[in-house]
This record gives sequence, structure tokens and C-alpha cells, in this order.
Amino acid sequence: MKEFDLSNRVAVITGASRGIGLAVAQKLSACGARCILVSRKVESLEVAAADINKAGGKAIAMACHTGYPDQIQAMYEKIEEEYGCLDIIVNNAATNPHFGEMITADAGIWDKTMDVNIKGPFFMIKYGVPLMKEGGAIVNVSSVNAVRPGLFQGVYSATKAALVSMTQSLAQELAPRGIRVNALLPGLTDTKFASAIISSEEICNHAVSQIPLGRYARPEEMAGAVLYLVSDAASFTTGTSLVCDGGMLI
Ligand SMILES: NC(=O)c1ccc[n+]([C@@H]2O[C@H](COP(=O)([O-])OP(=O)(O)OC[C@H]3O[C@@H](n4cnc5c(N)ncnc54)[C@H](OP(=O)(O)O)[C@@H]3O)[C@@H](O)[C@H]2O)c1
Repeated sequence: MKEFDLSNRVAVITGASRGIGLAVAQKLSACGARCILVSRKVESLEVAAADINKAGGKAIAMACHTGYPDQIQAMYEKIEEEYGCLDIIVNNAATNPHFGEMITADAGIWDKTMDVNIKGPFFMIKYGVPLMKEGGAIVNVSSVNAVRPGLFQGVYSATKAALVSMTQSLAQELAPRGIRVNALLPGLTDTKFASAIISSEEICNHAVSQIPLGRYARPEEMAGAVLYLVSDAASFTTGTSLVCDGGMLI
């Protein structure tokens, strides 16, 4: 399947130490990409990178808090030194520090959520694009909450909706350079991020009752969608939102 061959492409994936980001890194490296795994804690990233390398892939770990633009810039300096170019950015890291009525959120909650969920992907793209050439591909991991806000997740949902809008703006702006920008909107997926929902039988049963496929997703089920969006199979697709939600938004 030549269209899905990512041999020698350089991919940076944020939030790659576990969950969806790790599954994406495993999938892209299995298709030949040289992966840079990014999150705040280098120890867990190094374990993830070692597992990928043991399986025959190519991965390295780089610690970076994506809420800090200066850390993103410093990371890209290292990437330029090491690889000289960049082909793929997967903006997957996010935070959700406020669970409760949106009206109770304070300025600190807004700043933290905006910094990581919107400004983080923005600066990942702003500072990454100069390293990209024609054929580059960017995926922003948003959420079904962008379209249907989650109960008591108003601030998070607003940032995920903004990420879809930003995806469309940057898709327009970067199209003349041959760089595609798309969004993935996952539904409920079995990760640490969703553990408050999945570990409570009552909340989980209610959430699953809204999903026509009758279950939540495994992280690997998001990885194929990201592979499609970054691969040549999606060469005419930009500015779109790919929903992977078991039918929840029907
Ligand atoms: N799970 C779901 O049901 C679900 C549904 C819809 C959308 N999503 C979206 O999917 C994406 C991945 O979530 P997940 O469920 O896989 O979460 P997860 O398992 O909790 O993983 C989150 C990852 O992000 C990293 N991270 C967190 N804050 C960071 C920061 N400031 N800078 C850099 N890295 C950071 C974490 O590592 P460190 O702690 O080392 O930083 C970790 O690698 C998120 O954008 C989330 O909004 C998830």
C-alpha cells in the first residue's frame, strides 16, 4: 500500500507517551516514519520510544510542555539539528483541568486550557511549518466535544471547537505551500484522559448509551484515522474534520 508508506518522513507527535498519541506514534512508525515523541515527562517517553525501536521502528523522545512557546521553539531547534526537516505534525496533547459548570471557571482555568489546547497547537504549527516542504501534513486532535459540548466540560469543549476553526484557517493559509491541515474528532476512547468517565459504571453506561456502536474506542482505533490524514491517501483532503465516534454525533 504505497499511499500509506511514510518511509523516512519525520513526524512530531505531542502527547505521545500514552493513550491516543502513543498509538499514533506506533502506527506512523510501523509505516516507516521517523517519530519524535513529545510530552512533559521524558521518562515515560523514553520507554515508549524504546518499545517502538524494539519493534523495528525509529523513535526518539523530546520533553516539551506545549503550553510554553519558548519550549516549542527550543524543541524545533533540536529537531532541525537532528533531522534538518519535518513532514508531519500531530497536535494531540491537551488538558481538561475544569470539570463543573462553565460559569464557575476562573481566569487561571481559561489560561491553562487555552495555552495547552489552542495556543500549543498554534505554536507547534507556527514554528514547525518553516521546516516543512510541499507535501507536509498536520493533524490537530480535537474532540466530538467541539460539536457537542460535554456536560461540565464547557471550557475544554470551547477550546476544541476553536481548534477546528483554527484547522480551517490554517488549511486555507498553508494550502498554497502544499501543506495540508486536518482535524480528528475522537469520541470516548479508553485512555487516562477519559478515566473519570470510564471508571465510573454509571457515568460510563450513560456515555456508552449515546454511542450507536455500543462501546467506547481503543486508542488504536484513532491511529488509523491519523495515518490516513497524514498519508498520500488523503492528498486532496485539507481543512476537514474526521469524526471517529462510534456514531455518537449521528
Ligand atoms: N480519551 C478520550 O475519550 C478523548 C476523546 C476526545 C478527544 N480526545 C483528545 O485526544 C487527545 C489525546 O488524549 P488521550 O485521551 O490520549 O489522553 P492521555 O492518555 O491522558 O494522554 C495525554 C498525553 O498528553 C501529554 N500532555 C499532557 N499535557 C501536556 C502538555 N502540556 N505538554 C505536552 N504534553 C502534554 C501527556 O503526557 P505528559 O503527562 O508526560 O505530559 C500524555 O502523553 C487529546 O487532545 C484529547 O483532548 C480524547
